[in-house]
This record gives sequence, C-alpha cells and structure tokens, in this order.
Amino acid sequence: MSLSRAEKALAREECIVAIENAINQTTFRWGGMKLVSVDQFDRATIAELFSVTDVMKSMVNRVGGCDLLTGKILTTIFFEASTRTMCSFETAMQRLGGQVVRVNASTSSAKKGETLQDTIRCLECYTDISVLRHPQKGSVPGVAKYTVNPLLNAGDGVGEPPTQALLDLYTIHNELGGKVDGLTVVLLGDLKNGRTVHSLSRLLTNYSSITLRMVSPASLAMPDEVKEALDTSSITYTEHRSLHEVMSEADVIYVTRVQKERFEDPEEYLKVQGTFDICAQTLKDGNAKDDMIIMHPLPRVGEIHEDVDSDPRAAYFRQMKNGMFVRKALVALLLKAA
Ligand code: NCD
Repeated sequence: MSLSRAEKALAREECIVAIENAINQTTFRWGGMKLVSVDQFDRATIAELFSVTDVMKSMVNRVGGCDLLTGKILTTIFFEASTRTMCSFETAMQRLGGQVVRVNASTSSAKKGETLQDTIRCLECYTDISVLRHPQKGSVPGVAKYTVNPLLNAGDGVGEPPTQALLDLYTIHNELGGKVDGLTVVLLGDLKNGRTVHSLSRLLTNYSSITLRMVSPASLAMPDEVKEALDTSSITYTEHRSLHEVMSEADVIYVTRVQKERFEDPEEYLKVQGTFDICAQTLKDGNAKDDMIIMHPLPRVGEIHEDVDSDPRAAYFRQMKNGMFVRKALVALLLKAA
C-alpha cells in the first residue's frame, strides 16, 4: 500500500525520533570520536552500536531515508581502491539527509607532495566528518591526532578496518540468533595480508568461548601480532592448511581473497592463488552445518564459486547491506551523540 505525501513525511519524522531516542540511550562518548581501531570497543559499546544499527535498518526498510543530518557534510578520502566501503559510507550519509564530498589520491594535492595531515586538516575546514583509507599501516591512527572533526578509519594498508569488523560482527550476531559467545569461526585465505580478519579476530576477543580455526597456506598465515593479542584473550585458536578438516564444526566460514596488490613478487601470488576456492560441492563434501553462514568482505576473485550464492547460508550480500546500516549508525553517533 503506497503512503500519501503527508503520511510519508510523518513516517520520516517518526524515524528521526526513533534514531534520536536510540542515540540518547547510549552512554559511551561517541560524539566526536576518532574511530581508528577495534581496540576502542568493548561488549557494552558494541551492544550500543548494534541497537542504533537496528533502528537504522528499520528506518531504511520503512522510509528509505530521513533528514537527521541535513546540513552536515561527510568527506571520503580514499588513497586505495574501494567500492563497498566508500559507497556504503556515502549512501549511509545520504540516507541520513547529509551530503558527501569525495577525494581520491589521483585528484588530491597529495600529488603535489602535501602531507596527509595537511590534506585532512584542509578538508575539515569544509566538512563535518572524515572517512580515510590509506595504503600505509598506522597512517590513520597517526593522522588522527591532527584532526579536529570525527574521523573513521576505512583501512590502513594491512592494518585495521574497524568499521568492517563491526559490520562483520553485526552480521554474525544477526544471522546466528543474536549469539556470538561459543561460536566456531573459520578464517580462510590470505590471513597475512587480509586486514579484515585481523580486525575481526581482535573484536571477537570481547566474547567468551570463541574458537578460531585459521586456514591458510603457510606463507599467508595470521601475523604474530594478531595471534599475540589472541593469546591474552579467552579465544582458542588453531592453524590449519586444509579447510576440509575444520569445515563440519564451523558456525561461520569467513573467506578472504589473496591480496594480489600486497605481493612484491607476482610468482609468489601465483603459487597461492586459488588454494582455497570453495563451491557448493566443497560445502557438501565437508559436511558444513545447515545453520552455518559463509561470509566474505568482498570483492571475491574466484574464492567463492557463484553456485554458492543461491545457498541460504551464503551471507555475503546481506553482510554488505549491513555495512551501510552499521556505518549509518556510526556516522550518526559520531555527529549527534554527546
Ligand atoms: C576488503 C578490504 O578493503 O580490505 N574489502 C572491504 O573492506 N570491503 C577486502 C579486500 O580488499 O579483499
């Protein structure tokens, strides 16, 4: 049934009130936050974020967008390629009534030798919140001390993408009945260079009785730095070279692509590429559980065959959609909360 113009306006107003109420119920100091690492989160803050995310999701489903952030401008500053992360932040802002300015490496004054902090400080003169992706590990936390406006790290080389880990966790939480404690999560593929698995592993340390099965070629194993963070947590982890041996116990299989652009030697890439591709038959042969889910941060370049897409356990496109909802919640919290 289609709504009249007045009914739509009322519905949008009701959504704004619902979002404001959800934001007002949070107690963490979200306002003005510089979100650079998953280490800034604990169970309570994650729960607050997810409750605002739920409201964002129902708002999109009900009215598509509202005017909560009218008059605010978000800038996306991406020095590395991105489709999903950039577009989900941009659509998140637009669905909240705000506007977006996009900056990329090829058009920015970085080409003239400008420092990253100067680029951001200048952009902050025009806008209200920044999202930054940069190829160098540590660059986003490094620049955060120079910035005045809220800042979101959209990935710094092989370092962190905290907002990706939050949307991954939201997906796990939503798909598996609100339960995270006690899950067995298989991380598959390029665990060395795939930054999403680094951030997700660290974020999962907030939950109890988690088992991580890390499956990769030996040369692409999880870095020691991440394993050391897990050693001081309650997470149990083991490393494997075969997916088959852990598939049947998985509640989540989180697949990653081999990160070609991070290899110095193309021969090394060719040696490992395609090692862990999965298809419908792989899931059958490995006795994957009926109620498990398959995730991928995307882009995929062959690791998950398209014949898996129609399997209800394939959660990766739902995961993408959750990215926009989580990022809407973050942008609104950073701009609106106390
Ligand atoms: C990933 C990334 O950028 O690290 N994608 C994403 O965040 N959506 C994964 C990848 O590039 O393989």
